[in-house]
Amino acid sequence: MTWDDYADGWDEDEGARAYSRAAFECLTRLADSRGVPLAGARALDFGCGTGLLTEKLAPVCGAIVAMDTSAKMVERLRQKIDRFGLTNVVPTTAALEKLVHQEPTLLADGFDFVVCSSVCAFLDDYFGAVANLVCVMKPGGLFVQWDWELDREAEEPHGLTRNQIVQALTASGLKNTQVETAFEVPLGGVTMRPLLGVGQKPT
Ligand SMILES: C[S@@+](CC[C@H](N)C(=O)[O-])C[C@H]1O[C@@H](n2cnc3c(N)ncnc32)[C@H](O)[C@@H]1O
Repeated sequence: MTWDDYADGWDEDEGARAYSRAAFECLTRLADSRGVPLAGARALDFGCGTGLLTEKLAPVCGAIVAMDTSAKMVERLRQKIDRFGLTNVVPTTAALEKLVHQEPTLLADGFDFVVCSSVCAFLDDYFGAVANLVCVMKPGGLFVQWDWELDREAEEPHGLTRNQIVQALTASGLKNTQVETAFEVPLGGVTMRPLLGVGQKPT
């Protein structure tokens, strides 16, 4: 299975919907507590999928670049942009390293927020990706990720440890890092309890 195979049913998946709702509420609280306003901000939604988080950011933020390497996920997002008139969202399937060369103007102004909702644990090079993402942030900007916590006892272990997140954020030069349980949302007899990782680019 590739991410393209998940695109058609993604928006109907109650887990994905609940996760993105909780992530947005978490981000709103975080922006307030860190004093980095979401209103009018430039945001990069890295690994945006079909845009479940992007569509919540759009009415608040000034501009959003929504990036995902799955063409089908981004196609779903493009349909929403047309349907809902999300004129401040620019979708792209270009990988970050290529985007820097192919569409430098998209990145030139830098981002107040880089958000990664359930993406980082799926990356081949998590540490390298964080380093690249920090390069396109504005000084004072917030890097925010939500990911499943690694359970080594699980049948198919998946996710990140708190230590891995602290190390990746710190190695990329982010300050005021914070790693904790992001939210607790009951769903179908289990409780979704992902991790939140946050860091701020030095001014
Ligand atoms: C679990 S989905 C989350 C989608 C979306 N953020 C959400 O919360 O609904 C993970 C997404 O990460 C994307 N992804 C995986 N590797 C990526 C990469 N290197 N660059 C950008 N996106 C990537 C996948 O295509 C997929 O859409």
